[in-house]
Amino acid sequence: MSKDIVSHNEKAWDRLVEQRDRWTQPVSHEEILAAKDGNWQVILTGEEPVPRDWFPERLTGVDILCLASGGGQQDPILSAAGANITAFDNSPKQLERDRYVAEREGLSLTTVQGDMRDLSTFSDEQFDLVFHPVANVFVPDIQPVWAEAYRVLRPGGHLLAGFMNPVEFIFDSKELDEGRFVVKYSLPYSDIESISEQEWQERYGAEAPLEFSHTLEAQIGGQIQAGFVIVGFYESLRERGVIAEYMPSYIATRALKRASDQMDRETPVAEKLSIK
Ligand SMILES: C[S@@+](CC[C@H](N)C(=O)[O-])C[C@H]1O[C@@H](n2cnc3c(N)ncnc32)[C@H](O)[C@@H]1O
Repeated sequence: MSKDIVSHNEKAWDRLVEQRDRWTQPVSHEEILAAKDGNWQVILTGEEPVPRDWFPERLTGVDILCLASGGGQQDPILSAAGANITAFDNSPKQLERDRYVAEREGLSLTTVQGDMRDLSTFSDEQFDLVFHPVANVFVPDIQPVWAEAYRVLRPGGHLLAGFMNPVEFIFDSKELDEGRFVVKYSLPYSDIESISEQEWQERYGAEAPLEFSHTLEAQIGGQIQAGFVIVGFYESLRERGVIAEYMPSYIATRALKRASDQMDRETPVAEKLSIK
């Protein structure tokens, strides 16, 4: 299967917007009103709200990059809560959903189309927070995402990321739909390499987004390798399906880009313990 993954997934997500997929549904006027009043919550994974203390106490004036987060959901909520939002996504129609809510509610946010692995349109240290809900399953390699997120964050800023537990990808998804756990694939799974094009098309349809599992080493180790310190972690269940009875499908992390004074404070300890 030779495909341009980014342009395939751009069209696939535009189509999901037309099909009113769950992840493309704009939030209501009432949710925005509540957010303007300080009552808001957002998700990185499934249906579980992100702990409030993963965000700064006040969002007013906080520069947030919403990374692969279009769809008229988290981005306008965080904007209504006072943050300066830059919404970055590969799907023009997902970004259009963000603009639709913003115009409906008199909010101002900036939208930028692109691939999450290349944030070169942004300068170093441009944001206070990067908000990245489950989406890295749509790219085959994720180290560039972590490295770019680290680069565009200011020291002391956080990356909040949601991603899939890779274990889910070992199962035959057709059998899983029938409530049976049949182990079929080795990890990491790839819609391009682990399954024939014909089988993939029969299973998902030729217009479905292409997905890729990633190892936990790539997800968690990758963030650490990029320079982050993981300071928060939770798992959450899939919204529906038999798998939710057995294991959490999603993982969320809060990762800190340390300020240089934090690093300085830690240096004497490292020296004392002879850590190189
Ligand atoms: C599951 S949706 C997440 C957004 C949603 N607001 C949520 O609640 O989680 C995944 C998003 O990733 C975006 N996406 C897929 N591939 C991408 C890429 N290479 N770069 C940037 N965004 C991408 C899709 O267009 C889609 O909007």
